[in-house]
Amino acid sequence: MSKLLYFSKFQIVLFLTISFSVLFVNCQQATQTEKVEIIQSATGKKAMVVSAHHLATKVGNDILRKGGNAIDATIAVQYALAVVYPRAGNIGGGGFMVIRSKDGKYDSIDYREKAPKASTKDMYLDSLGNVIPGLSRNGHLAVGVPGTVEGMFEVHKKYGQLKDFKQLIQPAIDLAANGFLLTPLEIERLNRFKADFQKYNKSDNAFIKNTPWIEGDRLVQEELAHTLSLIRDKGRAGFYEGETADKIVAEMKAGNGIITHDDLTSYNAKWRAPLVGDYKNFKIISMAPPSSGGIALLQLLKIVEDYPLSEYGFQSKKAMHLMIEAERRVYSDRAKHLGDNDFYKVPQDSLLDKVYIKERMSDFNPQKATPSDLVAAGSFAIPMESFETTHTSVIDVDGNAVSTTTTLNSNFGSKVVVTDAGFFLNNEMDDFSAKPGVPNQFGLVGNEANAIEPEKRMLSSMTPTIVEKDGELFMVLGSPGGSTIITAVFQVFLNVVEFGMPLDDALFAKRFHHQWLPDVVMYENGGLTEASKQSLKELGHSIKDVKYMALVKAIHVKPDGELHGVGDNRSEDHAAGY
Ligand code: DON
Repeated sequence: MSKLLYFSKFQIVLFLTISFSVLFVNCQQATQTEKVEIIQSATGKKAMVVSAHHLATKVGNDILRKGGNAIDATIAVQYALAVVYPRAGNIGGGGFMVIRSKDGKYDSIDYREKAPKASTKDMYLDSLGNVIPGLSRNGHLAVGVPGTVEGMFEVHKKYGQLKDFKQLIQPAIDLAANGFLLTPLEIERLNRFKADFQKYNKSDNAFIKNTPWIEGDRLVQEELAHTLSLIRDKGRAGFYEGETADKIVAEMKAGNGIITHDDLTSYNAKWRAPLVGDYKNFKIISMAPPSSGGIALLQLLKIVEDYPLSEYGFQSKKAMHLMIEAERRVYSDRAKHLGDNDFYKVPQDSLLDKVYIKERMSDFNPQKATPSDLVAAGSFAIPMESFETTHTSVIDVDGNAVSTTTTLNSNFGSKVVVTDAGFFLNNEMDDFSAKPGVPNQFGLVGNEANAIEPEKRMLSSMTPTIVEKDGELFMVLGSPGGSTIITAVFQVFLNVVEFGMPLDDALFAKRFHHQWLPDVVMYENGGLTEASKQSLKELGHSIKDVKYMALVKAIHVKPDGELHGVGDNRSEDHAAGY
C-alpha cells in the first residue's frame, strides 16, 4: 500500500548569503519539488526494515546494502529517528532491544532510563501526600537518566558487523545538519505542542518558531548535529561526559531537575536474558523486566492457548470476551508484581507458571464480565531464591532479526530540549508509581514493586518481540502506545496465527484493549460493529471509543521465505526491503 502524501512547490529562496544566516535559521522553505511517499506494506526477498519514518527506514536499508547486519541497521535507524522523529526517536530517552541471531540464539538489552540518584519515593507528592499533577510528566523533574546512547554502543560492541561506528551515525548527522521536509502530520504535531515547547524551554531551539509551521517547512537541527558529532568522535563520552554532559547538567540546574554528572557517568545498560515461552508451535521471545511486556504477553497467550480462538472468529463475542477477561487479570498482576528486578524480586517464574495461569481464569464466566474490583492480583508464595516509543523491526540478509522499542515516554518527552545540545529529554519518571493506586498518564496503577528508588528503572510496557514457528524465524514485531502496547502485540500476533490474516490486515484491523483499571474496554473509533458493542454491553462490559491505539511495526517471514514488512496505517510508518 502506498500513500502519496504531497508535492511541495514552494519557490521561495530564503538564503541570500550562505554562511552566517544558516546558523540562525532552523527551518527553511523547500526550494524544489520533493515527494514524500509513505509505504506501509512492502515485501523483500532478503532484508527488511520497518520504522516510524521513511527517512529512517531508508537509512536502515542503506546500511544493510553496505553490508551492515540487522544490528548495525537498527543503530543507524535509532540515530536517524532521533533526528526525523523527535516525538519519540531519541538520544535523551531509553529502550529495549530483542535480538535473534542467524544461528537461532536469543539476546536482549535493557537501556531503559534510571531514576537519578537524588530521587525519592515521595518526590512527586505534596506535603499532604497527594500527587502533584504534572510534576512527573512535564519539565525537568520528570526526566530519567537517558540510556539510548550507552545502549547503542553496547549492541554495536557485541554484535556490530560494520566496525566503524561513524558510518552508523553519520546519516543522522547529515539529516540534522541539512534538514528534512516535514510531512503535514509532523507540522500539525509541532504546532500542537508549540505552547509546551515555549513553556518548558527558556532558550531558543530548533522546535521554537514564532510563526506556525507550514507545508514546505524543513526542520534543520544544527545543535543536534553538533551533539551527534560529539558522540561520533568521542563515543560514549561524547554524551555522558564533557560538553554534552555539562549541557544536560546545566539544563537540570536551570529547571530544578536533579540529574548530575555522577548520574550520567554511572549510567549502565544491561544485557538480560530475554523471556522465552511457547504458544502452540510458536516460540515467543520478548523483553523481561523492567518491562512488563514479555511477562504480560506470555501470560495472555498462555491463557487463550486452550480456547478454540480461530473457531470463535475474529472479534466475535466469544473471542473478545475471553481476550478482555484475560487482559483484566494480567494487568492486575502487572500492577502488583512487576517492577525492576534489580530492586524488587519480580516473581517471574510464578507469574508464568501454567498452573498459576490456569487458576487465574478459574472465575472466568463466559456469560458475564468479572468486575475489576473482584479481580485482585494473584497471590502465591514468593520463592526465596532470586529469580525483568517507537518501534523498529529489522531482518537482514543472513536472517539476523532485531526488535527494538525506544521512547521518550510522552510525545516529545518532558518537552525540555537541552539548551545548545538540541535534543529532547524523556519524562520516563511518570512510568513509576508515584503513589500506590494513583494512575499514571496511561491510567496504569502500581505499587511497591514499581515505587521510585534511586537508580531503579521504571516499569515499562514496551514489548519488542520475535516469534519462531517450528524453530524458524516467523515474525518480528512491537509498538509504541503505552499500556496498549502489550494488547496490540497480542492482537496482531493472534490476527495472523489464529484468524488467518495477512500481516497488513492484521495490523490495520481495529483494536480493543482492557487493562484492569479503569474497568472499561477501549476500542478504536469505528472498530466494532454495533452488534459487537451490544454483545459486549450485554456481557456487562463498559465500552469506550478512542481515536487509535498503538502503532505496530512488524515483519512476517512467509512460508516461501519472502519478508513482508508492515508499518501502521494509523501513522506514517514506512516499510522497505529488497
Ligand atoms: O515504557 C513505557 O511503557 C512507556 N513509557 C511507553 C510510552 C509510549 O509508548 C508512548 N506512546 N504512545
